[in-house]
Amino acid sequence: MSARHRRRLVALAIAVGIATASCGGAHSIVNPKGSEADRVAGVWWLMFGLAAAVYVVVAGCILYAATRGRRRRGPSRLHDNWFIWIGGVIVPFLILVVLAVVTVDATSALRTSSPGEVRIDVVGKLWWWEVRYPGHGVVTANEIHIPRGTPINVHLTSDNVIHSFWVPQLAGKMDTIPGQPNNLEFTADKVGRYAGRCAEFCGLQHAHMGFEVIVETPADYGRWLARRERVPLEPASEEAASGQLVFQREACAGCHTIGGTDAQGTVGPDLTDVGSRRLLGAGAIENTPQNMRAWIRDAGAIKPGVQMPSFQSLPDRDVAALAAYLESLK
Ligand code: CUA
Repeated sequence: MSARHRRRLVALAIAVGIATASCGGAHSIVNPKGSEADRVAGVWWLMFGLAAAVYVVVAGCILYAATRGRRRRGPSRLHDNWFIWIGGVIVPFLILVVLAVVTVDATSALRTSSPGEVRIDVVGKLWWWEVRYPGHGVVTANEIHIPRGTPINVHLTSDNVIHSFWVPQLAGKMDTIPGQPNNLEFTADKVGRYAGRCAEFCGLQHAHMGFEVIVETPADYGRWLARRERVPLEPASEEAASGQLVFQREACAGCHTIGGTDAQGTVGPDLTDVGSRRLLGAGAIENTPQNMRAWIRDAGAIKPGVQMPSFQSLPDRDVAALAAYLESLK
């Protein structure tokens, strides 16, 4: 093999590698881990297969025409154009009919309404997600725990603009519309953390309106729910206890709720279990003590446009205590 051929082969391998690497990621629809995503992926592969077949046939015809040249003959008659009739009219028509039938069938199958075994209410906020478990009094934000193998019904609304709830590996997109509740039903097959995104442009921080769906075994999910239903314990450390005082003294309690305390604000996310969350600011940053301090100090520097005010004048000691308190809420 010549050096030129080797270079071409390497370039082809890199291109295929890049193209397929993007197929397995957290936001991939062709790596389904749930009932609804399975169905969507099936339609996608059918479309991909048909498109690939059309590409191969058309590219083959171009190659054939380019290499074999043109036969000379007299003026063409209607029946001489059979190739155009078949390739340009009949085959595309049949492909579109097949795709239409399959798509309509999949769409109607995904929209059959069932109450699900677990109902979760999700509200699209600016720019985060409120998550409620009706009947359990559990409220959290940006992290949705669900049991594996159990039909889930996510009830979706918004109290501001239109957002779209999308966990590519579990289900298709569904808008959250003010005044128009929507339902999304799916069953997750595999334990794991699945990234979700807002899929409808909704303003300045649309790109930082992420969330995670945490699929657990039914036993783990039951334990999680039972833990969340209990009133949180009083702060264990002295620093966390002084952080609780800062939380109540400053504006925090006006916007945030912490279960079992006087803080009952509803503007910002419920913080009752904020210490257990993997990310802060709806996926903007990792939840570490250092990031928590930076977020309290000036959330707008991390997520411009965020409704959380900055606390630049708060002494370092108070910020550290606040962060210690919030990280202790698990
Ligand atoms: Cu919410 Cu985009």
